[in-house]
Amino acid sequence: MSMRSPMIRINENYLKLQDSYLFANIAKRVKAYQNAHPKEDIIRMGIGDVTLPLPPACIRAFHQAVDEMAQDTTFRGYGPEQGYAFLREKIAEHDFQARGAQISADEIFVSDGAKCDTGNIQEIFATDIRVGIPDPVYPVYLDTNVMAGRTGEYQDGRYSGITYLDCTRENGYIPDLPDSPVALIYLCFPNNPTGATITKAQLKAWVDYAIDNQALILFDAAYEAFLRDDDLPHSIYEVTGAKEVAIEFRSFSKTAGFTGTRCAYTVVPKQCRAFTASGNPMPVHDLWNRRHTTKFNSVSYPVQRAAEAVYSPEGQNQIRTLTDYYLTNAAYIRQAIQKLGFECVGGKNSPYIWIDGRQDSWKFFDLLLNKAGVVCTPGAGFGRCGQGYIRISAFNSFENVEKAMDRIKAALQ
Ligand code: MLT
Repeated sequence: MSMRSPMIRINENYLKLQDSYLFANIAKRVKAYQNAHPKEDIIRMGIGDVTLPLPPACIRAFHQAVDEMAQDTTFRGYGPEQGYAFLREKIAEHDFQARGAQISADEIFVSDGAKCDTGNIQEIFATDIRVGIPDPVYPVYLDTNVMAGRTGEYQDGRYSGITYLDCTRENGYIPDLPDSPVALIYLCFPNNPTGATITKAQLKAWVDYAIDNQALILFDAAYEAFLRDDDLPHSIYEVTGAKEVAIEFRSFSKTAGFTGTRCAYTVVPKQCRAFTASGNPMPVHDLWNRRHTTKFNSVSYPVQRAAEAVYSPEGQNQIRTLTDYYLTNAAYIRQAIQKLGFECVGGKNSPYIWIDGRQDSWKFFDLLLNKAGVVCTPGAGFGRCGQGYIRISAFNSFENVEKAMDRIKAALQ
């Protein structure tokens, strides 16, 4: 009798994915251009990566914590997987309780990034649920659901099996409630990539939808620190009832310059529930805690101390100055683009400007790279509704932003 060898097989869902992750694809194109034009000074306004250094309060705390790691008496090994109490308590108090949202420290899970958390969270839900994903969207939400097998094949710019929530000029880039039921909903405000913001009433409509339909919202608030209009909600938990139906993601990356340092957190309220196939409600907090303690071993102690310093009075002032700087860039870009006759959204309460380029996104991307030496992000990379748009990120020095806008103006004339 012949025995087949136990062949290693792949997760074929990966074969459904588009060639490469959007930002890796852009980086490859920019590198090829740079190799062909080694003398050209390229201004990067594509990926939203910060350029200003860490705030001095964070650096001081970081150094002190590193010194503690050098002494027998203050050295620390593994930390609690969910994060140190000193950081979780500050987060709960400053980011939620101070805004009237009753979130407690033990509902906060400190992690190494909102990208990782928004990508990993779907693991704790069934693979045959219907998922509602905005279009355009931060690609991590969609790609991780493809990897998990929640979609069919990719055709005409979309995966079958996903309910796409269109964000267009017509609906002010705020998705309408879906016509057919969805169980898991991704929302991100201030939005990446459009820079649009959501009002409390609009957010309440989604929370009510989730309550009525036994659904759950994944609310990505990574850009919350850029909100300046007082009446806009900073957290989904400012909406009554949200604690039962929403998980929120936050990050120190854009808030305090931690893109390279890595620190973020996810809020899973104890009341938040999802259901077994037979309809029994289960606390999502317990599932995420199980996942987090099994697969994650906490953010390093010095990084958590640096993040804690964000909540000191100096830290608060310094992050305000830092985010104000990028918002000044954003306002400048918005104005310059409008002067050139393009319509755009974002750039207020957000570091992203979403521009209707009135032509193919990748063509516009190539034009700006080749003629102006400016890197943007083609809107089509964020989904079918992004076709025709480009995204410009305000994360750069003001000098570079001015230079980039001058060059774009010259290139388009
Ligand atoms: C972006 O450019 O969309 C962001 O930098 C992506 C991220 O934060 O991972």
